[in-house]
Amino acid sequence: MNAIELLKSDHKTVERLFQKVKATDEGEHKELFVKIKAELDVHTHVEEKIFYPRLKEEEELEDITLEGVEEHHQAKMFLRELSNLTEDSEKFEPKLKVLMEDITHHVQEEEGIMFPKVEKVIDKAELEELGKRMEEEKKNFQKSQATSSGK
Ligand SMILES: [Fe+2]
Ligand SMILES: [Fe+2]
Repeated sequence: MNAIELLKSDHKTVERLFQKVKATDEGEHKELFVKIKAELDVHTHVEEKIFYPRLKEEEELEDITLEGVEEHHQAKMFLRELSNLTEDSEKFEPKLKVLMEDITHHVQEEEGIMFPKVEKVIDKAELEELGKRMEEEKKNFQKSQATSSGK
């Protein structure tokens, strides 16, 4: 998979989880949130470690990439806050809803504006190579997460 295909496929996975949240009762949302967080943790990690640094080298991609980093930062704050809420907090559902809205917006910007620009300035061979590195990094990250959480 090239870099863009890989990221879009991650986006789809997350979107499917969002749809599940919308289609299920609140009782199932905690478990879905754990899955959403795991997906977003690894996804933002590879974007920030491999994809975004390469984009920032291109003048026409610099602004949108910097904006992406800030949106990731907001998402991470929300993910942390959601993880830290007490079991019965009334903030859980509204915070999860806002997180999903923010992520949907971020994904629309990446797929609608950023990726088409990327495809213009970075050639296919390099996107393929970036995709391979990102796949590797996803595996490494997931391994390190499993170790640090004692699983
Ligand atoms: Fe992103
Ligand atoms: Fe993304």
